[in-house]
Amino acid sequence: MSIKRNDIRHVAVIMDGNGRWATERGLPRIQGHRAGVAALKEIIKYSGEIGLEYLTLYVFSTENWKRPSIEVNSLMGLLIEFVEKELEELKANGVKLMVIGDLESLPRNVRASLERAILATEKNKGLHLSVAVNYGGRDEIVRAVKRIADDAASGRIDAAQIDDRMIESYLYTAGIPDPDLVIRPSGELRISNFLLWQIAYSELWFSNCYWPDFTPEDFQRAIDDYYRRDRRYGGL
Ligand code: IPE
Ligand code: IPE
Ligand code: MG
Repeated sequence: MSIKRNDIRHVAVIMDGNGRWATERGLPRIQGHRAGVAALKEIIKYSGEIGLEYLTLYVFSTENWKRPSIEVNSLMGLLIEFVEKELEELKANGVKLMVIGDLESLPRNVRASLERAILATEKNKGLHLSVAVNYGGRDEIVRAVKRIADDAASGRIDAAQIDDRMIESYLYTAGIPDPDLVIRPSGELRISNFLLWQIAYSELWFSNCYWPDFTPEDFQRAIDDYYRRDRRYGGL
């Protein structure tokens, strides 16, 4: 049997398990998030090294506001800290940063820091890094539908011409190819409202290790596994 070698352009990661990683060590959950940031830096670096075009990381979901405010606040603080500390290196490595999600309802300083980094890296031609912050797949679709309805009502578009491609162009991810591979560590076998439209035909890869323990070797293992998959898209 021949094995088709799939191309891989876009990997999306649900970085999960930070809290459990910390709890198992008797540490506060925020220490798990810190360790998670360390892991994500390695994955960003490795993605650049192997010449991956697109990496999307799920950082904070529209449902994560349900967590105690102390955790939400420390996650927001970590996000700012990450941008402030890593921006120079991201720039030096040619990373182009983008945020998907509802930026408007983030604390002003978080938003400002993200916007500054987006602007500072916008001309870069290396790894295209999307961070999903205050992101929800359903929220994204609701926003798209509202804008499409507005544009149809005002005559900017013709409702009869709404198709897949048009809907895509209204999503946060407009212009970005769908993920080829979605990775979720931590043992949970679910999508948790991540990229619902975009993962229609993505390959899924799960592992039991918590995100802070996830290494570039694990990342490569997922990619190697992906190469062995037979993507049929409903065909034969
Ligand atoms: C993922 O780790 C990070 C975020 C959701 C912000 P968790 O905080 O969900 O860790 P667990 O799942 O509780 O272990
Ligand atoms: C998904 O993880 C969101 C992020 C990794 C940012 P969660 O920990 O929020 O997901 P559930 O609650 O286990 O589904
Ligand atoms: Mg979790």
